[in-house]
Amino acid sequence: MPVRSTFASLMALALTTLPLHAEGDPEAGEKAFKKCRACHMVADGDRVIFKGGKTGPNLYGLIGRPAAAADYRYSPAMEALGESGFVWDAENFTAFMQDPVGFVKTTLDDNSARTRMMQKLKADDAADVAAWLVSVGPDAAESGS
Ligand code: HEC
Repeated sequence: MPVRSTFASLMALALTTLPLHAEGDPEAGEKAFKKCRACHMVADGDRVIFKGGKTGPNLYGLIGRPAAAADYRYSPAMEALGESGFVWDAENFTAFMQDPVGFVKTTLDDNSARTRMMQKLKADDAADVAAWLVSVGPDAAESGS
């Protein structure tokens, strides 16, 4: 029956989506973000969500936006990453944060690529920061959390 199969696929969808939401802890992520504030702020225009420095780009809405998309003078390596069509998600962000310099080299397949972003995070902390960025980002209301 069509109704039944729709229900079944919705259930399957729910089961596959739930664990994703449980991955990072936004509260812990906000705490871990203290390591970033010397260089990064999170601000939606004039609405400052997390006060921070301007050495690095504004990270508002990072998850879901292409690399090097903020109003900021990026390194040629970061620009190249953005031009390659790379879009930040929780997974690649977590990989990047464990070794930003190595990640950019590997992803661009260019050993001479140099990003100025050098702050590392452990995988757990990075997943938490990703969850926090999503929770204060432009899509937070839509995802209903
Ligand atoms: C000492 C300064 C500094 C600190 C601390 C720092 N960053 Fe960065 N970050 C930068 C700079 C500079 C760039 C731009 C890199 C480039 O253009 O190569 C950057 C870029 C980034 C990008 C790419 C953004 C984009 O628009 O594509 C991410 C993601 C990022 N940082 C995350 C973090 C997180 C998360 C933390 C905290 C754990 C952190 N950074 C801590 C300086 C810093």
